[in-house]
Amino acid sequence: MGFKTDAIQNGVYIDKTFQSVTTPMYASTTYFFAGLGEMPQFDYTRSGNPTRWALEQNLAKLEGGKHATLTATGMGAITTVLFLFRPGDHIIAGKDIYGGTYRLFELVFGPLGYEFSFIDMGNPDELRAAVRPNTRAIWIETPSNPLLNVTDIAAVVALARERNLLTIADNTFLSPWFQRPLEFGVAIVVESMTKYINGHSDVIGGAIVTNNDDLGARLKELSNCLGTPLAAFDSFLVLRGIKTLAYRMEGHQKNALAVARFLERHPRIARVYYPGLESHPHHELAKRQMSGFGGMVSFAVRENALDLSAFVGRLRIFRLAESLGGVESLICQPWSMTHLSMPEDARLRAGITPWIFRLSVGLEETDDLVADLATALGD
Ligand SMILES: Cc1ncc(COP(=O)(O)O)c(C=O)c1O
Repeated sequence: MGFKTDAIQNGVYIDKTFQSVTTPMYASTTYFFAGLGEMPQFDYTRSGNPTRWALEQNLAKLEGGKHATLTATGMGAITTVLFLFRPGDHIIAGKDIYGGTYRLFELVFGPLGYEFSFIDMGNPDELRAAVRPNTRAIWIETPSNPLLNVTDIAAVVALARERNLLTIADNTFLSPWFQRPLEFGVAIVVESMTKYINGHSDVIGGAIVTNNDDLGARLKELSNCLGTPLAAFDSFLVLRGIKTLAYRMEGHQKNALAVARFLERHPRIARVYYPGLESHPHHELAKRQMSGFGGMVSFAVRENALDLSAFVGRLRIFRLAESLGGVESLICQPWSMTHLSMPEDARLRAGITPWIFRLSVGLEETDDLVADLATALGD
């Protein structure tokens, strides 16, 4: 079946009693045993829940994987994955990853004895040089948050295989409609379902998907032990959102491209970061490994060309908020918002300055979005 058919049909028809068309929301925390030692398919919602299970089947298929473990937040997914490792293990990550991931690595797992290197993932020599005897994994976030750098997934997987390292890819920014890292040999995909997968800014959730049976079983076990699983109601809502994922992603991309092209020509804008632009340094690579460029656009305002607060205050459609991937357009300043948890020097090293804004381009009318930016930029 094609992606859109799977998104709507796969795994969701689980109600054998009433044949309901949508997946029921099983709020029950616990399930009857037929007798002693006769364990039902689901016994307790932390370890398994029918509504969550339906979404697991659905999302695993869309990512091209066999096993999905769904968590209460995207950070819950990342935390669960980190428990595959132990103190003394070393993980290599890009230097411009999501600020919350950076914070989890540095503030929680660093003090536990985990070691991290934050490097330029686009530089194969730097990556090769970063591998140590205790390196266990390479953490890929592509396109990265907020600068939309694209990592060559196949090249990283090749090095990881040579050195026997696990590869983990955060697929939040594109969703499986535009990018399926497992098809490039990545071992584990993580994502924040809070963003495009749910798509309506009303659920926080995370996912871990893999093709490897042992990893799949271990991740389920870890999530159950750690208490990170996704709630039934949130699973129900994501099951509704995921059905339109492909159509939403196409709409986000159409609007994002129009906005990026407008900003690129604007005299007050120094630089636009969108992998769909020919001017993006990784445009060719993006075309090779992604089937679309997504709905996230970042841009740098020319220094002192604008009063930043007044600019944001003049916007009527792009409202100032964190998060991304919902149907409504949002703007954020990573410097003071999503990436504030990174120390200032780490932000500057990653290329994040107060002049950079990140847009989550929504599904409103294209012309309205461009006009909103034009007015706020003083046109
Ligand atoms: C790329 C990326 N990964 C992970 C997360 C964390 O997800 P959540 O907020 O659902 O915990 C985010 C959140 O913004 C993100 O942008």
